[in-house]
Amino acid sequence: MNILLLGSGGREHALAWKIKQSKKSSALFIAPGNAGTATCGTNIDLNISDFESIGAFCQEKSISLLIVGPEEPLVRGIADFFEGTEVKVVGPSKEGAQLEGSKAFAKHFMQRNNIPTAAYMEFDESTYNDGVVYLQQHSLPIVLKADGLAAGKGVVICQHPGEAIAEFELMIQQSKFGEASKKVVVEEFLTGIELSVFILTDGKDYVLLPEAKDYKRIGEGDKGLNTGGMGAISPVPFADKDFMKKIEDRIIKPTVEGISKENINYKGFIFFGIIKVEDDPIVIEYNCRLGDPETEVVIPRLKTDLVDLLMATVNGKLGNLNVETDEKAACTIMAVSGGYPGNYEKGKPIQGLDISVKNSIIFHSGTKQEDGHVVSNGGRVFSVTSLAENLEEAINQSKDVIGHTDFEGMYYRHDIGFEFIPPPNTDPESHSAH
Ligand code: AMP
Ligand code: GLY
Repeated sequence: MNILLLGSGGREHALAWKIKQSKKSSALFIAPGNAGTATCGTNIDLNISDFESIGAFCQEKSISLLIVGPEEPLVRGIADFFEGTEVKVVGPSKEGAQLEGSKAFAKHFMQRNNIPTAAYMEFDESTYNDGVVYLQQHSLPIVLKADGLAAGKGVVICQHPGEAIAEFELMIQQSKFGEASKKVVVEEFLTGIELSVFILTDGKDYVLLPEAKDYKRIGEGDKGLNTGGMGAISPVPFADKDFMKKIEDRIIKPTVEGISKENINYKGFIFFGIIKVEDDPIVIEYNCRLGDPETEVVIPRLKTDLVDLLMATVNGKLGNLNVETDEKAACTIMAVSGGYPGNYEKGKPIQGLDISVKNSIIFHSGTKQEDGHVVSNGGRVFSVTSLAENLEEAINQSKDVIGHTDFEGMYYRHDIGFEFIPPPNTDPESHSAH
């Protein structure tokens, strides 16, 4: 079977790496891909928003499975574009993708289906003044979310009413995020620890994939600016059997039942952004795709053939499948360009990518081939995933391997997984006095 995968990040390299291992895949194309995906298949220079060109390519290469990595083409309706053709798409319809593409849609969906989520109100130009009064009276902190896609920047947590009102004005009156912030969801702030939970669904049944935790802040100790993600671990130590059962019973099952009941055409991944408040899971957000860098720990822990899983998804046969997961722990650490998530330079030659260490894999994110050398081509450049008997070993191995790589300005966090690792013994009693 010929497969086309859309996207160019570490998520897509991890998917391509796994697809390459399947006997079911005869040819794999990645558009546009990166220097890493080029080692798993053929990179194709296609614009992922240009459905006509993608369609023409699929016809030319007899593609039967199209896997959509990022959310943008899904929210713009790529699955609807191919509906009824020979090309089966892994990814929801435009309506299903609204779970990510419109925060207000997701909130209504959760309310209708009794899925636990933070209390909220939504406002637009016509209710702007009510919104200002609401913000003045609300407890703090308070969360403002642009309704539509805003490249991961549409959520602002405000500590003061003045700050909240200024942000609200920027979003609605000044179109800070263009059309995406014409409507704003104002949400109660929840305190807890977050995790990412993934399923594949065919719209009726679902399979649970390994869960993960990502580290979004640029600085160690979860300090500083938000990024696309600086690393991830899987499994997540606090997501024990009881907690995962609560997530399935209260969140996953009602979500899939809601999709089925409401006749939403959904064949693809759902990423549940969940926060643990005391002992209860609450949905922070839905995404209609896999996470990055979570995929770089989720996919290496998946033992089941990925092409089998994706075919069962598009053919509505997931009810017959079991997913086998590696008991090992995984950690991925992301190497980023100096200055990221602010301004950074590209085109830096990368050393050490050819290092070969058992149970470690390098997944490329922003890389490309230039004059026979792999150079940096983005903010997040590559990540090192390691699998080991426990989390601590996986973390240490990834740190060791990433320490053998380099490019000018390269930065990474040394503390991925920190809250689950016992601190070094600092008890003064244990040291002899001099
Ligand atoms: P999102 O863009 O929806 O992923 O939100 C980005 C981040 O904002 C989340 O990962 C959370 O860390 C934080 N966040 C979003 N909503 C809330 C909330 N209601 N309470 C606390 N933190 C939130
Ligand atoms: N790592 C979070 C995301 O992919 O949205």
